[in-house]
Amino acid sequence: MSDGRELLISGNWKMNLTHFEAIQYVQELAALLRAGPLRPGRALSIHPPFTALRSVQTALESDAVPVALGAQNCHEAEKGAYTGEVSAEMLAKLNVSYVIVGHSERRQLFGESDGTVRAKADAVLKKEMTPIICVGETLEEREAGEARTKVTGQLEAAIGKRPAAVVGRLVIAYEPIWAIGTGKTASLEDAEEMAAHIRAEAERLAGEEAASFLRVQYGGSVNIENAGDLLACKNVDGLLVGGASLKAESLYEIARAR
Ligand code: 13P
Repeated sequence: MSDGRELLISGNWKMNLTHFEAIQYVQELAALLRAGPLRPGRALSIHPPFTALRSVQTALESDAVPVALGAQNCHEAEKGAYTGEVSAEMLAKLNVSYVIVGHSERRQLFGESDGTVRAKADAVLKKEMTPIICVGETLEEREAGEARTKVTGQLEAAIGKRPAAVVGRLVIAYEPIWAIGTGKTASLEDAEEMAAHIRAEAERLAGEEAASFLRVQYGGSVNIENAGDLLACKNVDGLLVGGASLKAESLYEIARAR
């Protein structure tokens, strides 16, 4: 645990699992958590596709499963003529607690700009949910020594000029793009260094107290083997897990890793 901050382990299912598969997943996860609860100071969230949110909500709530419901995205507008989009209010009404915004796949494949990501975080906060704001550099940027500059710019856009109390309850996910789905994890030194940099930037932008509460996740090829070491990094307060979260047992083991 990092300075008393709760560790949040989040499973981002991306475009995987039908609502039938999702219900089965929750039943498996619930059974595992009943048999062996997470230790204090650790929390889990799962982020199914929109089509499974309602089923997962019902499955979690009917058994009081200690797992928070998360979404992968939302639209920034309150409502209106945005065919195919989902609003923050629609998610809040499903008791969604966390919404991932600005995932690199959204930024790269769907053209989301820093401005869009900020607007989405605004929409999520307005409905009293917590955005998990994703930041991270490409391989070219890392090799050019520009990783910190890139992340700083993304942070300034997403969390700059926000009240300290708001910044203190945000989650920032550092996901180096070259580590996502590639099997290449950032070294512990690189993960910790960037997590510390994110906290230092949060301090510059919103003050020491906000920075001490802000949670920083690491994401990118997290698995059962590397989870414990990543969670032990001083400034890493959780994990955002893609591929390895698609099986309930695997996410559970990651959340229990020492
Ligand atoms: P992988 O864990 O599959 O690399 O995905 C990471 C990720 O993008 C989580 O949001």
